[in-house]
Amino acid sequence: MSRKIVLDENSLPKNWYNILPDLPRPLPPPIDPSTKGPIDPKKLERVFAKELLRQELSSERWIPIPEEVRDVLRLWRPTPLYRAVNLEKMLKTPAHIYYKFEGVSPPGSHKPNTAVAQAYYNMKEGVERLTTETGAGQWGSALSFATSMFGMKCTVYMVRASYTQKPARRMLMHSWGAEVYPSPSDKTNFGRSLLSQNPEHPGSLGIAISEALEDCVTHDNTKYSLGSVLNHVLMHQTVQGLECLEQLKQVDEYPDIVAGCVGGGSSFSGLFWPFYYEVVSKKAPKKVKFVATEPTACPTMTKGIYTYDFGDTAKMTPLLPMYTLGSDFIPPPIHAGGLRYHGDAPTLCLLLHEGWIEPHAYDQVSVFDAAVTFARAEGFLPGPEPSHTIRYVIDEALRCKQTGEEKVILFNLCGHGAFDLHAYEEFFEGKLPPWYYPEDEIKKSIERLRQELQWLPEVEKQFLA
Ligand SMILES: Cc1ncc(COP(=O)(O)O)c(C=O)c1O
Repeated sequence: MSRKIVLDENSLPKNWYNILPDLPRPLPPPIDPSTKGPIDPKKLERVFAKELLRQELSSERWIPIPEEVRDVLRLWRPTPLYRAVNLEKMLKTPAHIYYKFEGVSPPGSHKPNTAVAQAYYNMKEGVERLTTETGAGQWGSALSFATSMFGMKCTVYMVRASYTQKPARRMLMHSWGAEVYPSPSDKTNFGRSLLSQNPEHPGSLGIAISEALEDCVTHDNTKYSLGSVLNHVLMHQTVQGLECLEQLKQVDEYPDIVAGCVGGGSSFSGLFWPFYYEVVSKKAPKKVKFVATEPTACPTMTKGIYTYDFGDTAKMTPLLPMYTLGSDFIPPPIHAGGLRYHGDAPTLCLLLHEGWIEPHAYDQVSVFDAAVTFARAEGFLPGPEPSHTIRYVIDEALRCKQTGEEKVILFNLCGHGAFDLHAYEEFFEGKLPPWYYPEDEIKKSIERLRQELQWLPEVEKQFLA
């Protein structure tokens, strides 16, 4: 039995897969709060590279990956697909468990799959500097790496709680030449206003996005880059699923379940979209279940409300059609920093709303318990984010043991945990609280939004009903 299924460098996909033409219904448009109607894409050109905006709206199913981008991706891609032989033995399960290991990239996660493409298109359009936000540092380090590959500058606003707790990722970003500020920072008007109210403000991803956007629009030759949520970002991640299709063919397997964790939805979408395409185009040889996991501390898919909400706290972004906990959400300080965003990708939310996705939420104690089981069986120390999926996979494999089903389960191990040792230490010392986000806080936050934007129900009726 193959333990590791590898592809030749030249098998790196030549096209990304774009799900837009294959969604069960048209994606509701982003709304411009100033006109209360769909946003004019021209307005976003100040912030995003033109080619990325073109991809965002494109209805072409396959979009060519530029050779210069493939050349950088080849540093670590195609990534290996592993059969979790030891984990299966440890659990005594008849299930076949496969994981796509994205932790082999230079920054240690799936994030550079899009960072490289975004830096490339911006460089081609003459942009000199990119601004962005980061939670625990995965996305910030991916963009720092990618900009360094194309000789560009990078400014990262890092959620203050992580900036102080997790200095290692900050050093990594510095090593690739990026400047990194704790958010809220004294670099922007929005950051200064928050610091004047609370000099110890812990920050949030929504606040860091607002600061990165403000920095972008107040400086020349500067654009902004987002690590998840938008269509083009998720599309750049499909190299994962496309490679998996080839790798599984080599061992004559096809998944019954494709699972991944969701912060904004990019790693999971990158894995499952190509399988979704196989299902809707009737190429899949069997029914496939798509399972998305998240923390109980940030239960966007399992407890959030499907509506229009801002993508950031200062309300600078258009309103996006998504499940949301409210854009003023300040997450409990769980260690899966990448999963603490208040919303999710509109494409993922549409599919969730239409019943294509099965969501599961787990508390961080049960998640770290699964992570340690995995590390002791497979050797790799998983990041806290994919460990949410590992919790699901172990539970499902144990269910298969009860029923005797030989289900094929595929998930993405979208990041390693070498920068999260402090979190593991807290787990071993029994200091990790499980954290559950209260449901009435979600309702209150959405109520505040509806008070502010009294026309919101009309827009919902028009586009979400
Ligand atoms: C390792 C890892 N996994 C998952 C995520 C969640 O983001 P997304 O849902 O966009 O993949 C992050 C975000 O930073 C991450 O670093």
